[in-house]
Amino acid sequence: MAKKEQGSRKLEVKFSKLSLPSSGVAVIVVTEEDLGSSNLEKFIAKAPVKFTASFGQLVPASQPDQHDLDLVLLVGLGKSTEITETKCRALGGKLADYFNGAKLDRAAIIIDEISNAEMETGEIAADIANGASLKNYHFNKYLTDEKRRDKLSLEFLDFRLEQADFAEKIYNEEKIVKEGVFLARDLVSEPANILNTEEYAKRCEKLESLGLKVQILGEKEMKKLGMHALLGVGQGSRSESKLVIMEWQGSPDKDSKPLAFVGKGVVFDTGGISLKPSLNMDDMKGDMGGSAAVVGLMRTLAERNAKVNAVGVIGLVENMPDGNAQRPGDVVTSMSGQTIEVLNTDAEGRLVLADALYYTRQEFKPRIMVNLATLTGAIVVSLSDVFGGLFSNDDELSERLLKAGQETDEKLWRFPLTAEYDKMIDSPVADMQNIGNYKGAGSITAAQFLKRFVGDTKWAHLDIAGVATIGRPNELAPKGATGFGVRLLNTLCKSYE
Ligand code: BES
Ligand code: MG
Ligand code: ZN
Repeated sequence: MAKKEQGSRKLEVKFSKLSLPSSGVAVIVVTEEDLGSSNLEKFIAKAPVKFTASFGQLVPASQPDQHDLDLVLLVGLGKSTEITETKCRALGGKLADYFNGAKLDRAAIIIDEISNAEMETGEIAADIANGASLKNYHFNKYLTDEKRRDKLSLEFLDFRLEQADFAEKIYNEEKIVKEGVFLARDLVSEPANILNTEEYAKRCEKLESLGLKVQILGEKEMKKLGMHALLGVGQGSRSESKLVIMEWQGSPDKDSKPLAFVGKGVVFDTGGISLKPSLNMDDMKGDMGGSAAVVGLMRTLAERNAKVNAVGVIGLVENMPDGNAQRPGDVVTSMSGQTIEVLNTDAEGRLVLADALYYTRQEFKPRIMVNLATLTGAIVVSLSDVFGGLFSNDDELSERLLKAGQETDEKLWRFPLTAEYDKMIDSPVADMQNIGNYKGAGSITAAQFLKRFVGDTKWAHLDIAGVATIGRPNELAPKGATGFGVRLLNTLCKSYE
């Protein structure tokens, strides 16, 4: 086996014809309906507890005498008619956890033809494999102790089913997307002393080798464009603020307007002069999760040769307190010409996005524009780590996003945007202020702020502060960076191809 590149993050998956292995670990996946008709009696008889094949049930059974297997694992898929992609992926994640917990490195997964399911057996196998590999991630770059670096034991899964070729085809498509997810997770996991704005821009530039056009604007160029909202946020930092523009031209119609994706890339958010409390401030190295999703998406589009035109724009800044830092009460003029009173320097993401959104809209006249940002603590209060917040001026785009969210388990919940909330960011001294002037609705007033920079472009804002990094594992990711948005937006892009 090849040496693992970033440590244990690369699960090798193979699909082969249905058969029982002669040695090692065999996992037998079966539905409640097929349990009776299967020839599993010899295994089930040896199971220590009653195996009913209910969804997610996982029962180790010792093997019958005539076999030479190390372990037989019976795994329930539940009712055939109730199988969904979500459940298959979750089951894959659960299997990965089990194997790693048991310190196993490889297993054969046997899936006999499943009757009466809405999904083909090949799809079911591919989705289980995809779930397992999404879950099998560990950011271990900075662990020098080999044992700790190799925390994940699982390296190889051999799926055995009749529809092996079909399963492999589906899995290989997902595998490309997963590389984009892992790129996003890597970026979010990197500490800010390593992934400063300059290093981040360099990593984006490397994507040129995949056929993306990458352009980087520095402070000088942004000053010329009048991007003082963005620049104000970074003015207390030693690393130069950057705007990275990544273009993918994949549409057969070269001139078709691109889909635009804009990301908040605050490599570290101390709050600035409105300094954050020190407890958990380290989490703010992940305040570039929106931009990481955009980078992961652009990589995916290029790798899979997507038949769309797309542009990814990310604003990279560091929000630091310093002798040159922006002060509460400062007034800045954005690229759009609108003035902003900065009442709280910790509400910096919207300042970065104001200019990034306006720039993208002016430069590309996109067909749609979606921005992603770890924008507000208030969205965590509303939705925890379960949904991302969706804010939009367009019902059709919202429907597409909600659907893509359902399909990828990167779920969104739509919030209102109305004149009453818009009024809450009017400022007595400038065109607007960067925080609300009345209690509550912190995520909505932030979205209203962004809305003032998008004009009549079809636009959606995803507030992913609660889902980009999680404090506990979920079905498809360990604790930490999730890469939320990559799979969602890739599915969105497909709906335009
Ligand atoms: N980066 C934070 C939002 C955040 C909070 C992300 C928790 C991830 C987890 C953002 O820049 C911020 O500080 N927002 C303030 C806005 C407030 C000052 C109006 C917040 O939410 O407290
Ligand atoms: Mg902040
Ligand atoms: Zn922030």
